[in-house]
Amino acid sequence: MSFSHATIEKNVGWLIVLIVLVISVAGLVEIVPLYFQKSTTEPVAGLKPYSALQLAGRDIYVREGCYNCHSQMIRPFRAEVERYGPYSVAGEYVYDRPFQWGSKRTGPDLARVGGRYSDEWHRIHLLNPRDLVPESNMPAYAWLERPLDTSVLPAKLRALRTLGVPYTDQDIAQAQEAAKGRSELDALIAYLQHLGTALRAAK
Ligand code: HEC
Repeated sequence: MSFSHATIEKNVGWLIVLIVLVISVAGLVEIVPLYFQKSTTEPVAGLKPYSALQLAGRDIYVREGCYNCHSQMIRPFRAEVERYGPYSVAGEYVYDRPFQWGSKRTGPDLARVGGRYSDEWHRIHLLNPRDLVPESNMPAYAWLERPLDTSVLPAKLRALRTLGVPYTDQDIAQAQEAAKGRSELDALIAYLQHLGTALRAAK
């Protein structure tokens, strides 16, 4: 039996084996180098790990499901860059576990929302978006003015440190103190104001 192209096309077994082989090799060639390239594994200059308060806010962002309507990933297209600012790069996300890229934009991308509005703007907007944007369909998060639970923060920082986020012993020891007396709303706003600011700081 000659092993020609026709043989492969007519034999389902061979076709499956060879397709799997081709896709595996091609996949590895694309994916493996990303683990070793500096541009994807090293933080961009100026990127700081989230402070305890910002980290707590990030968890509220996840808890409330903000990612269902907001992405955090500016693609390198003109329309996106003109609307949201410089496109996102991998090194901005190295401390994000899990990342919040999102896949749906009912609302605008938030990757560079930090510093775009005042804290007071966010406060009013989160409690009732329609007070500021009458046509908004974003839900009101009126319950966020309650006190933040800070008891879990040291454990969270410690867990992230085992994954490579450079928190110091002092950061962990002071985590609870750093977020003491703040509301969930304060934490969420601190997180939002931090988003996308590293690249700007580096320039
Ligand atoms: C049902 C979809 C939806 C959900 C869920 C949602 N948003 Fe929004 N968001 C929107 C829409 C639509 C807008 C644009 C209108 C406006 O500004 O209210 C918006 C706007 C914003 C803006 C202003 C962005 C800009 O550049 O002007 C911020 C900040 C924001 N949302 C944060 C949040 C946070 C934080 C949460 C979770 C607590 C959240 N959103 C949940 C739909 C949503």
